[in-house]
Amino acid sequence: MIIPLAHRADQTQEYYFSVKLAEVRQLLAQGHDVINIGIGNPDMAPSTATLDALTASARQPTAHGYQSYKGTPALRQAIARFYAHTYGVTLDPETELLPLIGSKEGITHLSLTFLNEGDGVLVPELGYPAYRAVSQMVGAQVQEYPLLEHAGWQPDWAQMAELVQPAGSPNPTKLLWLNYPHMPTGAPATKALFEQAVRFAHDHKILLCHDNPYSLILNTKAPISLLSVDGAKDVAVELNSLSKSHNMAGWRMGWLAGAKPYIDAVLTIKSNVDSGQFKPLMDAATEALANSDDWHRDRNAVYQGRLSAVHALLDTLGCTYATDQEGLFIWAKLPDSVESAAALVDQLLYEKHIFIAPGFIFGPKGERYIRISLCVPKERIEEAVNRLRA
Ligand SMILES: Cc1ncc(COP(=O)(O)O)c(C=O)c1O
Repeated sequence: MIIPLAHRADQTQEYYFSVKLAEVRQLLAQGHDVINIGIGNPDMAPSTATLDALTASARQPTAHGYQSYKGTPALRQAIARFYAHTYGVTLDPETELLPLIGSKEGITHLSLTFLNEGDGVLVPELGYPAYRAVSQMVGAQVQEYPLLEHAGWQPDWAQMAELVQPAGSPNPTKLLWLNYPHMPTGAPATKALFEQAVRFAHDHKILLCHDNPYSLILNTKAPISLLSVDGAKDVAVELNSLSKSHNMAGWRMGWLAGAKPYIDAVLTIKSNVDSGQFKPLMDAATEALANSDDWHRDRNAVYQGRLSAVHALLDTLGCTYATDQEGLFIWAKLPDSVESAAALVDQLLYEKHIFIAPGFIFGPKGERYIRISLCVPKERIEEAVNRLRA
């Protein structure tokens, strides 16, 4: 006998990487040298000062108890200083910031806080899978909005407007997920795009949730926060994270930024779900947020150095790709000669022991695409190229 699951568990699929990485682990256990260029898991270390702060804090006998649900004041002040320095955005550390256990959990907290069953959620037709999965988990209606490939994967605002259901209708549109620099296509953020998004949210009275974990990775111009747009705080909140920009993905350190009423509402939900973060992690994150501009430049120089090897790999596969992508990945279109992304992924995994991500996990539009991660040393990517050519 097995007790029946809730409908949401029946309807939700296990995260693709949760399943596929088990296959990768199995191959590794069999002694195969798998080159994993599928996932965005930074392979470099956080700054030395960050690690020193972690160990110093962990040695304090007072560091091991429950902490505030809103994180330490020092962490919130450090995030506010980071926003001022990086994006020119002023945030009140007391009222406009909420530390999170990684930004991924923020997607769930925002959805629980703002969505009633049946509410419409605008989700990019290609994007981080959690937007769609969590919307479905809370019983909301996913409204996929198109991205225009020929316009650098920008949202099609006119089409999006047609998707919006007004208040009072059975599925009123309540929330819009946006993410630029965009994962998986690497499309950069622009001020004009963010201004358009804020106008759209005002016009349609929709909460705009911007997810901003890649603004510091391989950015070709100054990083932008959506909250830098006039009037953004009325209708928008922003998730951000140390996972990618500070090489701290396993630390689970992110935050939500926005106006006090939004932060307070999310805290009401979140404080019933978890009991805050470990103080040494918060003390170390406080230190990490002060990493110098040079530290970020050096990290990007390593990723930049890996780009040519990834381009060589994609050329070997006959893929086409844009060369101005930002973030941790390169998004590439398959040649007509490849039957399907799923078949290619399995062929590379089992015949060449190279793991890449198929585009369809980010939405049906990604059917003929693959995504390659930059989180592997250049020599390993070159080794992958050699295996492909062999
Ligand atoms: C677009 C996007 N948003 C959010 C996340 C989650 O990041 P975090 O580690 O902060 O939970 C990721 C992680 O890959 C991502 O690609």
